[in-house]
Amino acid sequence: MNELELIKIAKLAAENAYIPYSGFTVGAALLTKDGKIYSGCNIENASYSPTNCAERTAFFKAVSEGERDFTAIAIVGGKDRNFTDYCSPCGVCRQVMAEFCNKDFKIILGRNDDYKTFTLGELLPENFSLKE
Ligand code: THU
Repeated sequence: MNELELIKIAKLAAENAYIPYSGFTVGAALLTKDGKIYSGCNIENASYSPTNCAERTAFFKAVSEGERDFTAIAIVGGKDRNFTDYCSPCGVCRQVMAEFCNKDFKIILGRNDDYKTFTLGELLPENFSLKE
């Protein structure tokens, strides 16, 4: 599974985004260590705060199926299902990633024509953790 394949799955997942309030579509594709993929989209709510980001949808689907080991996540996002810019994960999603992934977990930000990659250590240095 390479970066472009994972981005393609994130774009497919974005098609299911439930976005009546922001019109901002996000899709994510989370790769487990044994090669399985869990996708997710953002799901908004009239009360706003229950809104779930695409990244957390993917993580919660995977974790609730018993997955604990992750290698990478691809993320795409944009207005009107147009991925002209990179969509970087919000702080809450970074903290959820830090609960289950180590510093070398790969975060792939895709857009229409290209992508760039970061590690979780780069995007959330010195994260809060209660793990030994
Ligand atoms: N959103 C995500 O799905 N992931 C992020 O990392 C940032 C924001 C969603 C939440 C909301 O539905 C929309 O983008 C606009 O904030």
